[in-house]
This record gives sequence, structure tokens and C-alpha cells, in this order.
Amino acid sequence: MQNKKMWEGRFKKELDYRVNDFNSSVSFDKRMYKEDIAGSKAHAAMLGRQGIISKEDSDLIIKTLDLILNDIDSGKLEIDINAEDIHMFIEAELTARIGDAGKRLHTARSRNDQVALDTRMYVRRMLSQIRKAVLSLIAVIEKKAEGHLETVMAGYTHLQRAQPVTFAHYIMAYAQMLMRDVTRINDTLKRMNVMPLGSGALASTTYPIDRMSVAAELGFDGVTLNSIDGVSDRDFVIESASVLSILMMHMSRFSEEIILWCSSEFSFIELDDAFSTGSSIMPQKKNPDIAELVRGKSGRVYGSLMTLLTVMKGIPLAYNKDMQEDKEAIFDAIDNTLLSVTVFTEMFDTMTVKVNALRRAAEKGFINATDCADYLVKNGIPFRDAYKITGKIIAYCIDNDKTLETLTMEEYKSFSDSFGEGVYKAVDLLNCVNGRNVIGGPAPSAVKKQLENCKEFLKTQNS
Ligand code: ARG
Repeated sequence: MQNKKMWEGRFKKELDYRVNDFNSSVSFDKRMYKEDIAGSKAHAAMLGRQGIISKEDSDLIIKTLDLILNDIDSGKLEIDINAEDIHMFIEAELTARIGDAGKRLHTARSRNDQVALDTRMYVRRMLSQIRKAVLSLIAVIEKKAEGHLETVMAGYTHLQRAQPVTFAHYIMAYAQMLMRDVTRINDTLKRMNVMPLGSGALASTTYPIDRMSVAAELGFDGVTLNSIDGVSDRDFVIESASVLSILMMHMSRFSEEIILWCSSEFSFIELDDAFSTGSSIMPQKKNPDIAELVRGKSGRVYGSLMTLLTVMKGIPLAYNKDMQEDKEAIFDAIDNTLLSVTVFTEMFDTMTVKVNALRRAAEKGFINATDCADYLVKNGIPFRDAYKITGKIIAYCIDNDKTLETLTMEEYKSFSDSFGEGVYKAVDLLNCVNGRNVIGGPAPSAVKKQLENCKEFLKTQNS
């Protein structure tokens, strides 16, 4: 079917079958059938309202497009993979069903503005879905953080134990990143929400179309203001891939933490059996495959961004067929990001946090050394000297297998007369955390404010 081309008037030969396959995009753009039909319905309604086609034809087109939509949804109508693209397939199906009225649908329209419209609407729908998935993940992080306000752990720099924080504070760092991702998606959605239909092939049309009413019907905030740009702009695809790349970079970093944390070396968390896998040969293994896959898929999403930037960089105005290459790249980025965020959320929600293991690791790394130095500073010693004295104490502890908590007062005094009983309170880990009570600090009271702010964010973003 459909080896007869819509443009056959000018051509004397049929398309070579290899070129047909090479040219065709229906195998991947068929996923935009809902958008294609919605766009065509709005266009047909406008043509009828403007008297460009008859009211009867307009009504018949809309009714039949609805039937076609139902038939595709239910599987009754299979999308023909020999069609050139989804736009041609639906128009041909329409014409097969209602004849001349179907042939009138494409009046005052080109596939160039049609594909620009469909792609925009599809990306818009999927970005909104990803946005919702990210909001769910943030909610899960926030909820988990509520239960770990006093779960002391070491914060790291250079992957070396550095200073005491809490598990709540640690994971809320990721909530902060993800909240920025949500606002980036919001910005992208807002910027891209202008309708290109009416740009025609590139020079708009001589028919008295009404673009604004079509835009309103399709949920756009306005229309594109230059017909050449309208058909040749794929910034919204690139911007989406870029926003998804940043999101996936965050997901990848978070995944890396999960992978480290569930190793025997860290042993900070245990993944639920339903979200980890075993080995075919080593019976003791429980692997964090989900997190590894998310980390891997981030590379794939960056790849899509590179593909899109490279495809677009040398294209003169206006539409060129190169632009058909935008779809697989952005679809792949969308699919893999949505899947990654969704599965990661479940995995994170069901994992067990090993509070005691976090605490034990925190006790070993002298992460209260800064607090010991600060104690001396509060007792009149200049910071640089306090730093040196504490350094010597740490060296002594390492040699004698001691910690700042287990040193005797005599030992402390041998390093400085300024030490008194208060030092034990100063180096107590929870106390160290409690003392960091500035805005954005790890003290439970400060993190509580962070959680409030996050809940407020979720409330406004979900409404
Ligand atoms: N399948 C094409 C694409 O995705 C549709 C636009 C084709 N327009 C054209 N003049 N050949 O870009």
C-alpha cells in the first residue's frame, strides 16, 4: 500500500524501494499519531470556520479523524510501515475513507509546519510527564529525609571522609538539583509553547487562516512570528535534550552514590530484592543494576543532545530533510530519561538505610577534627595554631588507634593547656551537626526548614 506518492503528478518513475525505506520515518514518527490527529482536527475546524472549506467537509474530516484515532488506539487500524511518515499515513487513510473531503484537509498547510507542530506537541506532552516523574522522586527523597534528620554520617570531599552531616541533609542535596531540573523543564515548556502551524512550507499561505484560534485550541500560548523560523526551528528539541541531559547527569551522580553505598566497603544501604539482581555464577552477589543502568543511560541521553546539535548546525533555512533525524534522538532521550527517573524512584523508595553503619563510618574518619580546632579557637587560640595542634592530635590518634572521642583529658592536655572537659561535647558528632545551624546547614533544625521549603515547592508545582 501507499507506493503511490502524494506528489506523483510531477514524477514519471516510482521511488526506488531502497530510497523508500531510507526516506521513510513512519517506523519512529508513528508515536506522534495523537498529536498529528489533534493538529489536523484543529486545522480542519479553522478551515471550516474561515470558509476556506465547507462546514460539511470540515465536520466530516473531524468526525473521521476521531474514528481513525479510535481505530489506532484500539489496534484495529495498523499504521502501515510502508507509508512515508505518520502525516502521510493519516491523510491517506482519511482520504481512503471520505474521498474529496479528505483531500481538502491539507489546504493552507505543509508537512513542514505540520511536523513542526506535531513534534512540539509530542515533546511538550512527554516533558510534562518527565516533570511529574521528577516531582514524584523529589517527594520520595523529602519523605525519606524526614526520617533521617539525626542520622549522622560523614560528608565527603575527594571521596575522603570530611565533616559530619546527616543522611537527610545529604539526600536533600539531590532534591535541590532535581528542583532546579523541574524549573528548567518549566522554562523550556514555556519558551516552546508557541504554535508553528500557519508557517506553511516556509512562506505561510495566501488563505485567510486564523492561527490564533488554532493555537488556543491546541493549548499554545501564542504563535511563531516568522514563518521561515517556524518551520526550521528545532531549538525546543535541543533545549529539551539539554535539560534532560542535565537531569540525567544528576541521576547518574545519585546512582553512583547508590552503587558505592551498597558495596560491602560502604554498606550504608541495602537495596530491595525487587530492585537488584543476582549473578549467574557468584551466589553471594546482589548487584545494583538499576543504578548502573541509569548511570549508563545518562551517556545515551548526552549522545542524543550531540546528535541534535550536530544535525542542525549546518542546515540552511528553511526545512531540510536532515531535520527528520531529530526524532529518534529526542525520542530516545525522552524514553530513557522517563524510564530512569521512574525506576530509580521505586528503587530509592524501597531501599533500607543502615543507620548504624553510617554512624560507625562517621566515627572513624576524624570528621570532627575541624570541630576540635574550632573548640580551641573558641578558647582563644588563633585558628592556624589550633589547626596545627589538632593535626598533631590526629597523627597521635592514628598511631595509637584512638579517636577524638576516646582520648583521655591527660592526652588532650599534653597537646594544649587550653583543652578542658568541654572538648568531649565539641567533638560529639551529633553535637557537631547541631552546631552547623546556619541556613543551608546540616543541623536538624536547619534541614527541617529545607524540608518545609521543598514541600512548599512540591505544593506549588503540583497545583
Ligand atoms: N517526515 C518528515 C520529518 O520528520 C516530515 C516533513 C517532510 N517535509 C518534506 N517537505 N519532506 O521531517
